[in-house]
Amino acid sequence: MRVVPVLALVAANLCAQPAAAADGASLYKDNCAACHRPTGQGIPGAFPALAGSKFVQGDPKEPIGRVLHGRGGMPSFQDELTDLQIATILNYVRVSWGNKAKPINPTQVTTLRGGRRENPKATLQAH
Ligand code: HEC
Repeated sequence: MRVVPVLALVAANLCAQPAAAADGASLYKDNCAACHRPTGQGIPGAFPALAGSKFVQGDPKEPIGRVLHGRGGMPSFQDELTDLQIATILNYVRVSWGNKAKPINPTQVTTLRGGRRENPKATLQAH
């Protein structure tokens, strides 16, 4: 009968540490599911499906770039999510709903971001 204490621990963890420690599923739910839906099916004509998407499962640079910079009706997440969070979400998306793609590494996100985690404007303002 270990199930209850374990669940309590998980719940306590999720409450105590919001985004940083959350797993891909909860990060996806909080940041992406409103548009792409919890099942990754999207909404035809408005939000593309991530389930079965070649873009999602292809070269990691593409989905990383899309999440960092957004496009059209999709917001940019570069100031909202850390490199680790973006990698965690994309790794969830890349193996969910029948998707099968290799994991991406958070350092790939760092590289595409320009090697910096903080807002680049902060550096510019210093001059
Ligand atoms: C406000 C709604 C909205 C939210 C929130 C959102 N997206 Fe999107 N997403 C879109 C739209 C609209 C597009 C299509 C953009 C275009 O190509 O014009 C898109 C496109 C994409 C694509 C490209 C899919 C393809 O096959 O072309 C990926 C990957 C993606 N989103 C991932 C994410 C992830 C991961 C999150 C959460 C971090 C997220 N999106 C949050 C609206 C959203």
